Amino acid sequence: MASLVCLLFSLHFMVIMSGSLPANSEVFAKESPMSLSTKPVERLTQLHFYFHNNKMGEHPTAMKIVEPPKVSISGFGTIYMMDDPLTEGPSPTSKLVGRCQGIYAEASQHEPAILMVTNLFFTEGIYNGSTLSILGRNPMLQSVKEMPIVGGSGIFKYARGSSVLKTHVHDAKAGVAIVEYNVSVLHV
Ligand SMILES: *[C@@H]1O[C@H](CO)[C@@H](O)[C@H](O)[C@H]1NC(C)=O
Ligand SMILES: *[C@@H]1O[C@H](CO)[C@@H](O)[C@H](O)[C@H]1NC(C)=O
Repeated sequence: MASLVCLLFSLHFMVIMSGSLPANSEVFAKESPMSLSTKPVERLTQLHFYFHNNKMGEHPTAMKIVEPPKVSISGFGTIYMMDDPLTEGPSPTSKLVGRCQGIYAEASQHEPAILMVTNLFFTEGIYNGSTLSILGRNPMLQSVKEMPIVGGSGIFKYARGSSVLKTHVHDAKAGVAIVEYNVSVLHV
């Protein structure tokens, strides 16, 4: 396990340093010396936007795809698929900056807490086409929640970071939630 982690770690740096492995070579792994002059400089990007989840109505952005086989405490076992708009401001008609596309699942038998496995797909400005991946636990009743950013693509290649969430609107009856996100990521 440790050697696998080591290998992945060195591969990670090798790809940063050299772009890719030489084509058609039989070399499985290659290490390059890292000097200060070639060390990639990491940048910190901070993003702020609002997430809109709508489970009901004519045009839901999230739908239940798995129902637990028997009645469970706090919906444990329920799985949803979402394609939720991300906007600049809290209003649903505010400028669209991206979408949150992925799965969330009721993963706790003790309190409403969901597992989120999702990609933030950005469409705005220089971020258009880039993604950030979230894999985290969202304890929904807490006023502030934190979930890790575990990776990214495009401008956010090699990203890692953190997202802080605050519920702005929650109307359980209408199936609507608007959540404020502050995302901080380090990337090359
Ligand atoms: C983002 O990129 C896509 C595909 O290249 C393009 O069709 C779209 O107009 C771009 N959106 C913005 C807001 O620049
Ligand atoms: C996001 O950051 C702004 C500015 O620091 C702050 O006012 C706001 O409360 C933060 N929101 C969240 C969800 O952390």
